[in-house]
Amino acid sequence: MSRIFITGSTDGLGLAAARTLMKEGHEVVLHARSRERASAISEISAAALGIVIGDLASATETRSIAEQVNAIGRMDAVIHNAGIYLERSRGETPEGHAKTLAVNVLAPYLLTAWITRPDRLVYLTSGMHRSGGSALDDIDWKKRPWNASQAYSESKLYIATLAAAIARHWPDVLSNAVDPGWVPTKMGGAGAPDDLEMGHLTQTWLAASDAGAAKVGGGYWYHRQRREAAAEVTDPGFQDALVGRLGELTGVRLFAERR
Ligand SMILES: NC(=O)c1ccc[n+]([C@@H]2O[C@H](COP(=O)([O-])OP(=O)(O)OC[C@H]3O[C@@H](n4cnc5c(N)ncnc54)[C@H](OP(=O)(O)O)[C@@H]3O)[C@@H](O)[C@H]2O)c1
Repeated sequence: MSRIFITGSTDGLGLAAARTLMKEGHEVVLHARSRERASAISEISAAALGIVIGDLASATETRSIAEQVNAIGRMDAVIHNAGIYLERSRGETPEGHAKTLAVNVLAPYLLTAWITRPDRLVYLTSGMHRSGGSALDDIDWKKRPWNASQAYSESKLYIATLAAAIARHWPDVLSNAVDPGWVPTKMGGAGAPDDLEMGHLTQTWLAASDAGAAKVGGGYWYHRQRREAAAEVTDPGFQDALVGRLGELTGVRLFAERR
């Protein structure tokens, strides 16, 4: 039995993953953006190990999420699932960041730094990461006119790259990225063609399975198959440049300086 924290588990893939892991007998810690959203899943949270509250768009609330998780105890695995898709505008988080970058990248980066290090880390990316592009000079959208789809694609390139960078820097942690496919959730829309069942079973498997195939790191996965990600994801130079930018934007360093 494992202890697993899942961000964004009030809906969609995160909720489906929580239900599956709990059915398998694992201890699951849920996450909701607010008390109101938590009450919408009171039926499942009653059977969970706990539920933590906080809005991932805010670094202060993200810090509180990490503290709430650490107060429950060390997790065996964390699934960084929460995400947002096509935002109408750049928006502005309390720390002044673009909301898509803050929720999809800065929050999982900060939670990775602040939550007691687990054995396994899973990050939800998307096939759209292939349209992300390798320029890192305006990742917070301060210079360019807003483009929601490009911002989402970039955020999913960055999170897949972060997963691979962690696998390289922390070899004792199994860190992987998962593309769930285009599935019918609030985000994917009712007409999405892919299978919601298959869309969440890769992350639960990577988080908790004892099968040898699931106990690897540094992968980019789709439906339990290892796939090749965009070239940037596995490029150590791009990984370190990205992690450096995330460190500058958040004021939090993830990896110790190499001597
Ligand atoms: N669905 C797809 O076709 C698809 C395709 C590729 C990748 N993905 C990725 O899969 C992951 C899950 O997507 P999904 O389809 O399950 O999305 P979803 O149905 O929209 O659910 C997203 C979850 O994240 C939470 N969340 C969003 N913003 C938050 C914030 N600021 N603070 C706290 N929680 C927040 C949501 O909370 P609320 O319920 O309160 O909104 C919800 O629980 C995402 O990372 C997404 O990018 C999805």
